[in-house]
Amino acid sequence: MRQSEGTENLTSRGATPRPSMRDASSRPPATTGGAAVAPVAGDDGTTLRYVHRPLPHDSGVRHVSGTALYIDDIREPEGTLHVALGLSPVARGRLRGLDLAAVRAAPGVVAVLTAADVPGRNDISPANGDEPVFAEQEVLFHGQPVFAVVATTRDAARRAARLATFDIEEEPPSITVEDALARGETVLPDYTFGRGDVEAALSAAPHRLEGVLRIGGQEHFYLEGQAALAVPGEEGDILVHSSTQHPSEVQHIVARVLGIPDAFVTCEVRRMGGGFGGKETQATQWAVIAALAARATGRPCKLRLDRDDDMVVTGKRHDMRADWRVGFDGDGRILGYDIVFNARCGCSADLSQGVVDRTMFHADNAYFLPAARIASRRLKTNTVSNTAFRGFGGPQGMLAVERVMDEIAARLGRDPLDVRKANFYAPGRDETPYGQTVEDTDVLAALVAQLEADCDYRARRRAVTAFNARSRVLKKGLALTPVKFGISFTLTHLNQAGALVHVYQDGSIHLNHGGTEMGQGLFIKVAQVVAEEFGVGIECVRITATTTAKVPNTSPTAASSGSDLNGMAARIAAATIRQRLVEFLCETYDVAEGEVTFRDDRVFFGNESLAFADLVKKAYQARIPLSATGFYRTPAIHWDRAAGRGRPFFYFAYGAACAEVTIDTLTGEYRLDRVDILHDAGRSLNPAIDIGQIEGGFVQGMGWLTTEELVFDAKGRLATHAPSTYKIPVASDVPQDFRVRLFTSANRQPTIYRSKAVGEPPLMLANAVFCAIADAVRAARGDGLAPLDAPATPEAVLRAIVGAL
Ligand code: MTE
Ligand code: MOS
Repeated sequence: MRQSEGTENLTSRGATPRPSMRDASSRPPATTGGAAVAPVAGDDGTTLRYVHRPLPHDSGVRHVSGTALYIDDIREPEGTLHVALGLSPVARGRLRGLDLAAVRAAPGVVAVLTAADVPGRNDISPANGDEPVFAEQEVLFHGQPVFAVVATTRDAARRAARLATFDIEEEPPSITVEDALARGETVLPDYTFGRGDVEAALSAAPHRLEGVLRIGGQEHFYLEGQAALAVPGEEGDILVHSSTQHPSEVQHIVARVLGIPDAFVTCEVRRMGGGFGGKETQATQWAVIAALAARATGRPCKLRLDRDDDMVVTGKRHDMRADWRVGFDGDGRILGYDIVFNARCGCSADLSQGVVDRTMFHADNAYFLPAARIASRRLKTNTVSNTAFRGFGGPQGMLAVERVMDEIAARLGRDPLDVRKANFYAPGRDETPYGQTVEDTDVLAALVAQLEADCDYRARRRAVTAFNARSRVLKKGLALTPVKFGISFTLTHLNQAGALVHVYQDGSIHLNHGGTEMGQGLFIKVAQVVAEEFGVGIECVRITATTTAKVPNTSPTAASSGSDLNGMAARIAAATIRQRLVEFLCETYDVAEGEVTFRDDRVFFGNESLAFADLVKKAYQARIPLSATGFYRTPAIHWDRAAGRGRPFFYFAYGAACAEVTIDTLTGEYRLDRVDILHDAGRSLNPAIDIGQIEGGFVQGMGWLTTEELVFDAKGRLATHAPSTYKIPVASDVPQDFRVRLFTSANRQPTIYRSKAVGEPPLMLANAVFCAIADAVRAARGDGLAPLDAPATPEAVLRAIVGAL
């Protein structure tokens, strides 16, 4: 960024002191010790000691010191073999022949596997039966796995994989949304919901606008790439270590592909080095191939994807073309909204039903749409199958309506924040287009009012206008955008979780549940819940790896619901044991249940107390069971997809962000000067973890909307398959002045300690950055809002300023 027009706001990074990003109250304490902390009041007047505390991530020190174990760090069992993939060199065609002689003859090769070597079903799809492990007659995308090589070293396997000769009769591929629309090819049927007579509302509206917004996809870029290690046991048993968000699905699909019962397969995951949705379904294939290799060779087999291959062979966020029309009144209030989301799903359905449904559920974001038609097309292309990515389709739906807000404001010459507020859900204007009532419209109104005041929005708007009047080359933009995000899996049956808690004779506690840890802090949150139940320090609760052998039939850790679901299940398990201990105590010491409290690693009753460990020991000797499972299912939710009506979400999480940017109108480059965030995590289970989720989610969303651009060429080859060409945000892209705060209000719904889910919603706070850039472009052109698609790369910004390049 040029410095020549520097004002105090344009000093180079670092010259302006960075304000504290956290409230003092959310600063992690020096120790994690449980017994000494001061209590806080719980919602129902109880005293809480371990939840609502900013405890550090249980693996934080291990993450930064390199002692946290990921799949590739597990000590390899004797004789481990390594697997590499043979990938299709074309995007679409008929596989006529495959000559693997040179591959088989290469040094170190032990086995080569193709579709013919699959003993069970050649299908890794989560639901639709449309995704083979290895291509058979048909090739569906460039980079599709066609075979696997198993060799004594990873290097030997990779070298051998290149020696195959493919005989493929190429066909012209569908790559873009337009290709698929022209051919009318979809992976799933079109789907529409809405309410009211939209055409009538549009034609009666005093003002009308229409437009097209293109929204880019996003590569997950988890730091730990996809990896799996399969270890064969006796009689066909197999243990699969997989970097997956969904161990139960890996277990099930490994069994399906191998043609063995689920009970023969155990899937274990201690942690992922990031998943972000990219390991919800798409870790399965690598686990399955490692398992196939282990079965074929009788030896442990590991598959760790090379980064470039990982980017080519795994799906991304769905890119979309949103075609919209809106009718509104003189205050900018929407009267009718019609939108079609044309989603590029890639070569198979994967999770596209749920993802694009969630786009539709968030087409309103925080705004009441009196008449709306929300439509979607799930387009089939010869590109890798797109999948879950933080926000799960929601971000695309919300970005479109935020763009519409800016278009309306530009047309009416009003401040975009005023147009947004005029459209907020409010009492009497509180029903979503899918029939769910927004019960807490006051939360967002209060949150936005507070952020508007805290960040000095009005004064800064005036300052930005004044700056733009005197600055010729540099232009500033400002935007404040809201987030309303529905919490629950929209596939209702997934809203369940199980946990398993053991208390050992020394009073130490073994905690296990169906959720997986991917860096988001789920494990520490659930451990805090269990520590609270037993009144023991967090160090007494041993966090253990997720495994299908301890808690069965789990849902993926996704939809931000990990702590809502597993926190409840673990609390129920712990409460069961605690109740047994209470009953035993009351019988033994002749006290009433109401007199017993668990705190400070002790149990208090009457005028006496016992160390928790002593009570446990006595209970063991009295033959009281010290192990329990817990099960939780989310209440109150239902969804009728055919009718397009229901209450798919238990509640909504809210947030808002204000972003200020400066763009250089000669180069299209920009800088994020300041970001203020206020985010609703309910009564946060762990404010330090939640602030981390908010910062990380925001920055990841900013990458999606600014620098991360996926480019497929006409032959369907991903041109951006490495960090050299695909630019994710780095430390220096974090806003110079970044102020993040929690908006603390108890969840109205009875969630775990009245907290709210926080994993995904903050990603969409980054919409403010996109809207601020558009605002600056408008200032540069001086003639209204110019077309601007996402991501707003410097090239796109320059194009928007000067017209086609
Ligand atoms: N945070 C980190 N550090 N790493 C991740 O992979 N995934 C996100 C979010 N935050 C992710 C993350 C996604 S996509 C989801 S759905 C939630 O975490 C899942 O975890 P939760 O349900 O426990 O919030
Ligand atoms: Mo998150 S996209 O629901 O894994």
